[in-house]
Amino acid sequence: MSKKIAIYPGTFDPVTFGHIDVIKRAASLFDEVIVSVAVSSPKKALFTVKERVGMLKNITSKFRNVGISSFNGLLVNYAKSKNASAIVRGLRAVSDFEYELQMALTNRKLNENITTVFLMPNEKYSYLNSTLVREIAAYGGDLSSFVPREIAKKLREKLK
Ligand code: COA
Repeated sequence: MSKKIAIYPGTFDPVTFGHIDVIKRAASLFDEVIVSVAVSSPKKALFTVKERVGMLKNITSKFRNVGISSFNGLLVNYAKSKNASAIVRGLRAVSDFEYELQMALTNRKLNENITTVFLMPNEKYSYLNSTLVREIAAYGGDLSSFVPREIAKKLREKLK
């Protein structure tokens, strides 16, 4: 049987405990999970793509079936180039649903063979996003509930 490969795309600026929770769940469901930083995101990022890839690599090194990359252009094309049959996205709350549904259906229209799979992170991370984390870091708040220690350190260094 062919390997089941999933892509988990996002901005990851920076990766949080919520993302890590989704990565862990995806890694238990698929043979291989490729966490991929979107290069062409319209968002103005704090960390460079290289820095975000580096942080993801560091954080996921304990998962033997998780790889890290970045991609440019259409997600479905990247997924196809990696022989992925699934796109993983986290659904934190009802407010995520409309946007995620639109993306999932558009991606399906673009490529019928790639299925979007939604995973719910632990409810203790359902309010979390990277913007909040960056804001807390900018004002010197305690990051220990939101990101691993090494990511908190990178944030402090970046915002010094
Ligand atoms: N835990 C914590 N935060 C989470 C989370 C989780 N489990 N899941 C999502 N988030 C947060 C992210 O931190 C991010 O926060 P921010 O906006 O404060 O930075 C926010 O939710 C958005 O999530 P993200 O996963 O980064 O998605 P995105 O909407 O920025 O990225 C892409 C969407 C990159 C996947 C999409 O634009 C894409 O595929 N682009 C490529 C071009 C393409 O193919 N376009 C057509 C798509 S139909």
